[in-house]
Amino acid sequence: MVTTLVARLAAIVGEKNVLVDEAAKAPFLQDWLGKYRGAAAAVVRPGGTDEVASVLAACREAGISVVPQGGNTSMSGGATPDPAGRAIVLSLTRMNRIRDVDPVGNTMTVDAGVVLAAVQEAAKAAGRFFPLSLGAEGSCTIGGNLATNAGGVAVLRYGTMRELTLGLEVAFADGRVWDGLKALRKDNTGYSLRDLFVGSEGTLGIITGAVLKLFPEPKARATAFVSLRDTSAALSLLARVRERCGDRLTAFEFITGDCLTLVLRHVGDVRLPFTQVPPAAVLVELSDSDDDSALGARLEASLVDAAEAEIILDAAIAQGATQARSFWRLREGISEALVREGRAAKHDVSVPVAQMADFIVAADAAVAAAAPGVRPIMFGHLGDGNLHYNLLKAENTNDADFAAVAPVLTRIVHDETARCRGSISAEHGIGQLRVADMSRYKAPIELELMNALKAVFDPTGLLNPGKLLPDMSNH
Ligand code: FAD
Ligand code: MLT
Ligand code: ZN
Repeated sequence: MVTTLVARLAAIVGEKNVLVDEAAKAPFLQDWLGKYRGAAAAVVRPGGTDEVASVLAACREAGISVVPQGGNTSMSGGATPDPAGRAIVLSLTRMNRIRDVDPVGNTMTVDAGVVLAAVQEAAKAAGRFFPLSLGAEGSCTIGGNLATNAGGVAVLRYGTMRELTLGLEVAFADGRVWDGLKALRKDNTGYSLRDLFVGSEGTLGIITGAVLKLFPEPKARATAFVSLRDTSAALSLLARVRERCGDRLTAFEFITGDCLTLVLRHVGDVRLPFTQVPPAAVLVELSDSDDDSALGARLEASLVDAAEAEIILDAAIAQGATQARSFWRLREGISEALVREGRAAKHDVSVPVAQMADFIVAADAAVAAAAPGVRPIMFGHLGDGNLHYNLLKAENTNDADFAAVAPVLTRIVHDETARCRGSISAEHGIGQLRVADMSRYKAPIELELMNALKAVFDPTGLLNPGKLLPDMSNH
C-alpha cells in the first residue's frame, strides 16, 4: 500500500521531492526542542497548491495520515509525526513564492512556505512593514504562523497572526481547494471561514497561500532596557508607559534576573547594560510611523517618572539601532539558553494582566510546596498577559525524578491559570504537548463543537492526527 502511494506521490511532485531515505527524512522528524522524535513513511515536498491537493487526495485514497510542516519550529510538537511511522510529512518549504505585494492596498499575497523573515524583508523593500516578529522568524513559515496563530513580541500593538490576515487558500483532505485569497478588509458574506483555519494546526486543512496585511513602516523607534524589583513593578511600569505613550507602545517584554543569568551564561555576544544582573527587567519599545523625534523624550519622561515613583531601579535607553539590537539579543537568546541549561517544564500561559501578579505568587507558592528547589524561570510578553512560566530542574534532582514530578507541576501551573480564567496555551498552540490537557481545561461544549468541525473538514481524521484534539483515527 505505502509503496504504491510513494510511487504515486513521486509522480505528483517529482521523485527528488519524495524523501524515503532515513537520513534525508531525519531533520523533518525531530522537533526543535528535541522533545519528540517521530517517524514517517515519506517526507513529501510539493511545489504548488495543485500538487498539495493531489498529494492529499492520494493519501486519503490510501488511508494514510498527513502531517503538514512548515519551518518545524513548533514548541508543542505540532509538526512531528507519531513514532509509528505510517504518516506522510507534507513539507510546505518548497512553496516559497511571494505572489504579490500591493503597497497601495497594503497587502501581500504569499505561498504558505515563505519564511517569516522573507515576508518582513519584502514588506520593507516595498516601503511597508509586516509586524509579526518572533525568535524563530528566520525559519518559521507563514503557513505555520497561521496554523498556530503565532503571537511574538509585537502583539501589544498589532495583534496575533489572526489580526494580520485578510485571506487564505486551503487544500482539504479530499483534494478540494478553497481560494479565499481576498484582499478585502470588509467582506460580510457569511461565516468567517478564514478564521476557522487560523490556529487549526493542520487538523482541518493545509494552508497553501495567504493574503497578509501590511502596515506603514515605523519611522521612529525608542527602546529601553529597564531594571526593576519584580512583576508587580513591571505591571506598574506597563500602566504608566501605556498611559503616557498610548498605541506607540509596541513591545513590553518581561525577563526575570534568573532568566538573564542563563542568557549571559549560554549565549555569546550579549552584554547587560547594567553592572549586575537585576532581580527583573523589562525591554520596552515604542514606535511611530511619523518621524517623531520626540519619541525618545517621551520614553525617557515615562522612565524618569517611574524612577521618581520608585517603580524602577535603573534604565538604559538605546542610543541608536545597534544598542537597541543588543537589548533585543538579550531577549531573543532566552529560548536557546533554556534548551542549553537543561530540563525544564515549559508553560506558555496567558492570564488577564490585572491578575498576573496574583497568578505568579500563587503558582510560585504551589510549585515550591510540591517540589522544593525547582526554579521558576519566567519571561514573556507581559504586555499582552502572556507569560512563559518555565520550571527548571533543581540542581540536586536527577532527570528521572524531575520527569516524574513535571506533570504534577504542569497541572499546578495550569490549574492556577484556569483559576485566573486564563489560557494554558497563549501562542504555541496545543500540538501533541497539550492534547491531554484539553479535556480538563476546555468546556465540554467547546470540545463538542471543535470535534464537529473536525468531522466536517476531515471526516476520516487523516490530517495531523493526535494533535490539538484527541486522535479520532486509527491510521
Ligand atoms: P511548524 O512548526 O512547521 O508547524 C506548526 C504547526 O502548524 C504544526 O501543527 C503543523 O502541522 C502546522 N502547519 C505548519 N504549516 C502548515 C500549513 N501550511 N497548513 C496547515 N498547518 C500547518 N511562537 C509564538 O507564537 N511566539 C513566539 O514568540 C515564539 N518564539 C519562538 C522562538 C523560538 C526560538 C522557537 C524555536 C519557536 C518560537 N515560537 C514562537 C514557536 C513557533 O516558531 C511558532 O509556533 C511558529 O508559528 C511555527 O511556524 P513553523 O512554520 O515552524 O510551523
Ligand atoms: C519566546 O517568547 O521566546 C517564545 O515563545 C519561545 C519560548 O517560549 O521559549
Ligand atoms: Zn513567546
